[in-house]
Amino acid sequence: MKIYPPPKPGDQPPLLHPPYAATVRRAPAMPPVPLPHTLSELTGPLYGHHPVGETDHDLTRQHAADPIGERIIVTGRVLDEDGRPIPHTLVEVWQANAAGRYCHSVDQHPAPLDPNFTGSGRTVTDSAGNFRFVTIKPGAYPWRNHPNAWRPAHIHFSLFGPCFITRLVTQMYFPNDPLMPFDPISQSIPDAAARERLVSRFDRGLTVPEWALGYRWDIVLRGREGTPFEEPK
Ligand SMILES: [Fe+2]
Repeated sequence: MKIYPPPKPGDQPPLLHPPYAATVRRAPAMPPVPLPHTLSELTGPLYGHHPVGETDHDLTRQHAADPIGERIIVTGRVLDEDGRPIPHTLVEVWQANAAGRYCHSVDQHPAPLDPNFTGSGRTVTDSAGNFRFVTIKPGAYPWRNHPNAWRPAHIHFSLFGPCFITRLVTQMYFPNDPLMPFDPISQSIPDAAARERLVSRFDRGLTVPEWALGYRWDIVLRGREGTPFEEPK
């Protein structure tokens, strides 16, 4: 049996981080109770009812016209702790539009919805672990966690491993965002270098002239260079 080393202390956010108010309600108050995995959890169907479609990775081509905003390419690799690519894994994203509003009934703050932007996409990594999305740079949005609270621009990511219970969720940020120091979610990760691993890198080589800017971000599942995730692994 392979023994995986635990993450370095400070690399992952704690379940309870009072400045991030929602964690006060949802962090477990009691020690966890181990539950054996069932056969259906380990072997059941992984994806939804529909196969990944041709425009699922391109959030700018899911409606009749182009969405408003700064078109960007977001690409990277999913890697294990030794830098080996993780092929054929489902990568899902969801995000606010360029004005910082989610296409969701709960988000009613005064920013416009975009009829040409839903803000969700998915793709499967190729044989070298690469994923690639085309989207719109999301805007910052207010979120009432504390007075004058604004989230830095971010894209939510979900990865599925070989079975339904092996899901990892995290967020990707953009370089030089002035809101990062005031964001209790990203700041809940104690280690500054680990926080930095959630920030994508502007990559001029990815930029397509006259069309889109490019950002690169690798996701490392564990180890010293591991990406911080929202739940313990
Ligand atoms: Fe968000």
